[in-house]
Amino acid sequence: MKKILIIGSTGQIGSELVMELRRRFGSTNVIAGYIAGKEPTGELEKSGPSVEVDVLNRNSIEKAVEGYQIDTIYNLAALLSVVAESNPALAWKVGIDGLWNVLEVARNYNCAVFTPSSIGSFGVDTPHDMTPQDTIQRPRTMYGITKVTTELLSDYYHTKYGVDTRSVRFPGIISNVTLPGGGTTDYAVDIYYAAVKGETFVCPLKSDTFLDMMYMPDALNAAISLLEADPSLLKHRNSFNVTAMSFTPEMIYKAIKKHIPDFEMIYEVDPLKQAIADSWPNSMDDSCARKEWNWIPKYDLDSMTVDMLEKLRAKLNK
Ligand code: SER
Repeated sequence: MKKILIIGSTGQIGSELVMELRRRFGSTNVIAGYIAGKEPTGELEKSGPSVEVDVLNRNSIEKAVEGYQIDTIYNLAALLSVVAESNPALAWKVGIDGLWNVLEVARNYNCAVFTPSSIGSFGVDTPHDMTPQDTIQRPRTMYGITKVTTELLSDYYHTKYGVDTRSVRFPGIISNVTLPGGGTTDYAVDIYYAAVKGETFVCPLKSDTFLDMMYMPDALNAAISLLEADPSLLKHRNSFNVTAMSFTPEMIYKAIKKHIPDFEMIYEVDPLKQAIADSWPNSMDDSCARKEWNWIPKYDLDSMTVDMLEKLRAKLNK
């Protein structure tokens, strides 16, 4: 029987991953871990158990894992790329000291661990087009540095201690339940909210900046199917390139305009976000994930746009 703990369950990915895991594995088998001040509310709170877990407090992880007899941990605690630049020490603490705590508990209690990596683990020296699975990873952002370290430390715990660690390098994740907080790819979420509210969108990236992106249902599917995959078929572990689409601000603007012809966008480039985006891939090659665990995304830019607009109109009463 699977017993799953999600650390960071009230964040952008966590809030939807908990609900999807509860649908697939049963409500009582999926425990929503949260930190003080970020308690689950609404459906997330009502649909199953939750527990206070702080990655910086190993005891709290241990208590939850022991108490609920957890065998699988999704460790989603992290600071996103832009916010990490304003507090690099905290980004390292949460991302790496926190991960160390999670991995130690996993080693002692025999848990599988999923900790996401990111397109942010690449840097200016990485080939930008069809970025290979195994290539140069020399990021210059603290976010990227924590993600490369996450990959290495997770592999270390697998080879040295046999902990079942697995991970994907997520691209920008587009969703309509919980907002992302402080990432470079957030614009691709914010643009839909502006369009539905009838506001002009102020884009922080240049019109021709390509970045990999993915709609949340595909991201959830990636996180769940990788942990379900037959381990004997995995040549890689930490971490797999996964992508669903690659587009520029101009391309997403045009996709939305097909449905909302009056929608307007202007550019006010944010130098920090632009520099980060320019250091990330234009498009990743995710053939290893496709081969090793049958990764296949369902949504492209147009089908995601239809669904995002429909969901946000209902959510915002527009
Ligand atoms: N969405 C993340 C960010 O923009 C990238 O993984 O920081």
